[in-house]
Amino acid sequence: MDVRVLPDREAVGVAAADLIDAAVIDRSERVLGLATGSSPGPAYAELIRRHGQDPASPYRSSHAFLLDEYVGLPPDHPERYARVIRREFTEAMGIDAGMVHGPDPDAPDLERACRAYDAAITASGGVGVQILGIGTDGHIAFNAPGTPFSEGTHVARLSSSTRRDNARFFDGDPERVPASAVSQGIATILRARALVVVAMGEAKAEIVARLLSSDPTEELPASALHLHSDVTLVLDRSAARRVS
Ligand code: F6R
Repeated sequence: MDVRVLPDREAVGVAAADLIDAAVIDRSERVLGLATGSSPGPAYAELIRRHGQDPASPYRSSHAFLLDEYVGLPPDHPERYARVIRREFTEAMGIDAGMVHGPDPDAPDLERACRAYDAAITASGGVGVQILGIGTDGHIAFNAPGTPFSEGTHVARLSSSTRRDNARFFDGDPERVPASAVSQGIATILRARALVVVAMGEAKAEIVARLLSSDPTEELPASALHLHSDVTLVLDRSAARRVS
């Protein structure tokens, strides 16, 4: 795993945007894997600054696949990840809504919808570059500790710590954070050709240090990243503080 430590969140955004541009522009990848949450924000802002106004931007002809989607929020809820990603990234990048795909959390048969989502990713040619954040409990997407690495897209229960962490998007009330989500599995994530993982802030320092000192174990979902051959972990100084 390539680890880069940058002085602040703006520099993290520039470094992560450089890695995504390298995939899309230099390697002509046309399938993006997009995370929501706070970690990708500076990278998305930098990509919008670089390419948002360019009618010839290769991003405009790229597909995007979301990592996950809450179950139980109404389709027009502002925290539905499909809406968040449109608001925070794809619209300003000029990526047509029809090119942005997410797991269907309203399907009557969720298991079937999960299989259909993995099949859609495969049919697109697979994710060329996937941006990821890490939860304080070590989750990637919504794969909580203990999730088998072999799982594809599935219905995931959110741990109480994740619901507490995400309460900031729900008026500070963990009870209002949905209890489950449809999430790409570790196996899905590891099929992406390149992974760009962002962690910022003191709250991530402990999990980043654990990740870097751990062998792959299902007790620490992010440790699955050690099994991939093209992973860059982009940290700010606070998140890197406990790395020895
Ligand atoms: C979001 C996602 C989550 C977040 C993680 C970190 O689509 O899948 O795994 O990446 O919870 O969240 P932030 O970046 O808000 O600290």
